[in-house]
Amino acid sequence: MQNANLIYCGDCLEGLKKMPGDCIDLIYIDPPFNSNREHRAKGSREAKHSFVDKFENINAYLDYMRPRLIEMHRVLKPTGSFFYHCDWHASHYIKVLLDTPDLFGYDNFQNEIVWCYKSGGASPGKRFSRKHDSILFYSKTPAYRFNRLREKSYNRDHKAYKFKGVEEFRDEEGWYTLVGMKDYWEISMVGRTSRERLDYPAQKPQSLLERIISAGSNKGDMVMDAFCGCGTTLAAAQKLDRKWIGMDISPAACELSAVRLQDTFGIKAGQEFSVKGLTRRGWGKSNVV
Ligand SMILES: C[S@@+](CC[C@H](N)C(=O)[O-])C[C@H]1O[C@@H](n2cnc3c(N)ncnc32)[C@H](O)[C@@H]1O
Repeated sequence: MQNANLIYCGDCLEGLKKMPGDCIDLIYIDPPFNSNREHRAKGSREAKHSFVDKFENINAYLDYMRPRLIEMHRVLKPTGSFFYHCDWHASHYIKVLLDTPDLFGYDNFQNEIVWCYKSGGASPGKRFSRKHDSILFYSKTPAYRFNRLREKSYNRDHKAYKFKGVEEFRDEEGWYTLVGMKDYWEISMVGRTSRERLDYPAQKPQSLLERIISAGSNKGDMVMDAFCGCGTTLAAAQKLDRKWIGMDISPAACELSAVRLQDTFGIKAGQEFSVKGLTRRGWGKSNVV
């Protein structure tokens, strides 16, 4: 299961247990956040695309995630990195959990990436609008791979500095230098009119995943998303020439992922990737195990 592009339909705990240790280069997960909601694509034709994010309390949520995280840590290579997408509901508890020595450990925490976005609706009452998620980035060991990404930093007043030894560039906004990418990212959500929208609830923007995969892996590496939803991580990995494994407990999500990969990249289930644990859908019976 660990060598080829694969969509596994089922509880990721079961899927992960079938894998050998130390075989994955990068894991990103965007699991339930403990938001006490049922997520449903509002008003869409595809109302079957939904998932329940309800736990009795925070301890029940952590008890649910812990064994899955232990397996993810086990399958990650010593050079690998791990990204946990969460928000204010549980990010503080998840960080404490991931900091424990039997998981990643405090010293292997690398960043809390803050993904800032605009979305409709404001928080009611006496507080600021909640418009960011956190992505907790850990390495398995200190010897992890990381490709430093760079971003534009506009000069004060957008004018040229002309400092010796500083390379400057210019675009329609003005003069800038290139600096190491910071840990807060402004990336648009997948909005109602977005071209990449698949009406899957909580779908994440592909550009967010492209950034994570570009920083944390190289061409040919194996990327895994154990809660892959409509396959955003898989599409980003395919685009960037990585191998990939996606898991999701929802057959509708796995079907959507498979169709997305086929339609976007012209690759076929049963040839360039396989689908396990799903009964026959549009891509052909012979490909289903
Ligand atoms: C927030 S969504 C992921 C969205 C995804 N990042 C995307 O861009 O489409 C969370 C997903 O976790 C899945 N899920 C929940 N529990 C799971 C489990 N135990 N094993 C695998 N998938 C699970 C849900 O079906 C849902 O698709």
